[in-house]
Amino acid sequence: MKMFELIKDQIKNFKKIAVVTGAGISQESGIPTFRGKDGLWKNYDVMKLATIDAFYENPKLVWEWYNERRKNIFQAQPNLGHKAIAELEKYAEVVVLTQNIDGLHQKSGSSKVLELHGSIVTIKCSVCDYKEEILTEISDFPPYCKCGNILRPDVVWFGESLPQKVWQNAIVFASECDLMIIAGTSLVVSPANTLPIYAKQNNATLIEINPESTEMSEEMDIIIRNTSAKELPKLVSLFRTNYD
Ligand code: APR
Repeated sequence: MKMFELIKDQIKNFKKIAVVTGAGISQESGIPTFRGKDGLWKNYDVMKLATIDAFYENPKLVWEWYNERRKNIFQAQPNLGHKAIAELEKYAEVVVLTQNIDGLHQKSGSSKVLELHGSIVTIKCSVCDYKEEILTEISDFPPYCKCGNILRPDVVWFGESLPQKVWQNAIVFASECDLMIIAGTSLVVSPANTLPIYAKQNNATLIEINPESTEMSEEMDIIIRNTSAKELPKLVSLFRTNYD
């Protein structure tokens, strides 16, 4: 809390807030992170599950893994961290730049969310332009498109490009923001981990909320070593008090 006090007097100057999030923000909603103590990549081989080569080699295995994650994610509810971010919109222009595919920011009420790594809700054809939202369970793996090719999760795998328009918009907002809150990401995955650099070039204030240090901790103006569901509500309460 003490650290947030440092920006108490600047709160009303923050007009454009970029919130960069990663798996850690959904950890308190029961969705595991990828790295760190209980990270998914400790028990699963990323090269067998999250690359296009892996998909073509064993689409059934990849689909089964995504289906398990879909089930878990569909049951998950936004936590106090997601909700605090949604509330921030009352006080400034807020865009959430998330690496998460779980849709929890939208579920908690954030209206501008750029999904840098796609979404687990949508599935798409591996060849044609077909895309659809599927909120129910998928049986019979792998599912096929009407065009005859395999359908795949609409997520960005290692080695793939980010959706171009989404990424461009993310860079623009990161370059214009005056406050960037970075919560629950290890900042090891490129290019999402370059977003704080764009904000820094605009002299934005950078806040990191993460129980552990990250690749970019040294660049931060304020560091909070605690969980996002505990700390984001405290940060947002400073806005509330200043605007009441
Ligand atoms: N609150 C805040 N941060 C947390 C919490 C929590 N409750 N729990 C864990 N963390 C932090 C961890 O300390 C870690 O730094 O969240 C971070 C999660 O890091 P990663 O698992 O690497 O997740 P992320 O940064 O989103 O990964 C980026 O990697 O595998 C790919 O595509 C996947 O989008 C993902 C990308």
